[in-house]
Amino acid sequence: MTARILVAYATKKGSTAEIAGAIGKELQSLGHEVTVKEMKEVMALEKYDGIVLGAPVYMGKMIGIGKFVKRFRERLAAKPVAVFAVGTAPVSHDQKQIDDETRLPSASVAPQQPASTALFAGVVDPEKFGFFMRKMVGAEKSMVGDFRDWEAIAAWARDLPGKMGL
Ligand SMILES: Cc1cc2nc3c(=O)[nH]c(=O)nc-3n(C[C@H](O)[C@H](O)[C@H](O)COP(=O)(O)O)c2cc1C
Repeated sequence: MTARILVAYATKKGSTAEIAGAIGKELQSLGHEVTVKEMKEVMALEKYDGIVLGAPVYMGKMIGIGKFVKRFRERLAAKPVAVFAVGTAPVSHDQKQIDDETRLPSASVAPQQPASTALFAGVVDPEKFGFFMRKMVGAEKSMVGDFRDWEAIAAWARDLPGKMGL
C-alpha cells in the first residue's frame, strides 16, 4: 500500500537535511509518497499517514524537535512516528555519551512511543564554524570529518514502513 510519509528535519549546517533526503529517497523507492521538509516549514500533519523526525545533537540536546513536538503534540500522537538523531557520539568511543544520545530520540517524543529510533553519525566540518567552534572541535582532531554511513541510513529507512505499520 502507498503511504503518505513526512520526513521533517532540523539542521544547522545541512548534514541532517541530507540524511533526511536520503531517507525520503529510500521510502520513495519503496513506492511511498514522501515529503521531506524542514520542521519549521511544516504547517500541518493531517495529510500524512506516518511521520519521520530527525534532528542533530548539539551540546547533548537534539535541536528543534522539542518545539515541533509541542506544536503538533495531539496530531503526532495519532500517527506512527520514527525519530533519528545525528551527532558525533557514535564515533566518539565514549560509551556514556553513546548511551545517553541513543536515548535522545525516544525521549524527544515521550510519552509517545516511537515505532523506530536511530542515532546516526554526522559531520564535523570546522570550516563551517566560527573561531570558537573551530577551537573547540580542534581539541579533538579525530572528530573532524564526514562520518555518515549511507548504507546504515538506507537500511533503517527500508525497515520503517514495516515498523510503522504503513
Ligand atoms: C558546537 C558543536 C556541538 C556539538 N555537540 C554535539 C553533541 O553534544 N553530541 C554529538 O553527538 N554531536 C555533537 N556535535 C556534532 C553535530 O551533531 C554534527 O556535526 C551534526 O552532523 C550536525 O548536524 P547539522 O549539519 O544538520 O547541523 C556538535 C557539533 C558542534 C559544531
